[in-house]
Amino acid sequence: MLSIDPAQNTERENYKFLIGSIIPRPIAFVTTVSKDGILNGAPFSYFNIVSSNPPMISLAIQRPGGRLKDTSRNIFDTKEFVVHIVDEKNVEKINQTAASLPHNQSEIELAGLTPIDSDKISVPGVKEAKIRMECVLEHSISLGGLDSPGSDLIIGKVIQFHIDDDIYENGRIDPRGLGAISRLAGHYYAKIGEVFSIERPK
Ligand SMILES: Cc1cc2nc3c(=O)[nH]c(=O)nc-3n(C[C@H](O)[C@H](O)[C@H](O)COP(=O)(O)O)c2cc1C
Repeated sequence: MLSIDPAQNTERENYKFLIGSIIPRPIAFVTTVSKDGILNGAPFSYFNIVSSNPPMISLAIQRPGGRLKDTSRNIFDTKEFVVHIVDEKNVEKINQTAASLPHNQSEIELAGLTPIDSDKISVPGVKEAKIRMECVLEHSISLGGLDSPGSDLIIGKVIQFHIDDDIYENGRIDPRGLGAISRLAGHYYAKIGEVFSIERPK
């Protein structure tokens, strides 16, 4: 059994231990708008639910070289974003949006995704997702020390859900219909595998 103090590891070694261990990770495709009005989109797998009442989700966005990625900068500027669930049909296009483009270029156009207006916020989502959630920034926490934060934990409150009729029945979402994709390490992804049930003890 390996037993390692992360302080003795390089940043890359710790990254590989985390992304190889904490699997499968759901993937959010996040759209934001810059102060100049450019629609931005990028995938994030440090993503989860943090509260169901009220409905809230979290994203953790790294600061490479101490600099904000466009998504975090835009969320801090406008306080709004749209989270989409990445699925088997849209994963290829969404992967293209992870390209590091200059601040004034839209990954949405590059990937051929189709913007769609939101109901309650000014940031559009994209049509190519069976589920999308309009979010407002609830809270953010800068991690890694005040001098050189390495990451921002962003908590968003969901103020509108959009769910494809085909995967919705009686208040529930069909997991096979959704076909969500998860992120593993390296270039690997996974589909939903065998589904089984276990009763919860009373
Ligand atoms: C599937 C996938 C998951 C990713 N997850 C994260 C993540 O959770 N946090 C992060 O900082 N970057 C993550 N990235 C990298 C960002 O998507 C990438 O840096 C992107 O260019 C940021 O775009 P932006 O500058 O427009 O915000 C991920 C990339 C991929 C392909």
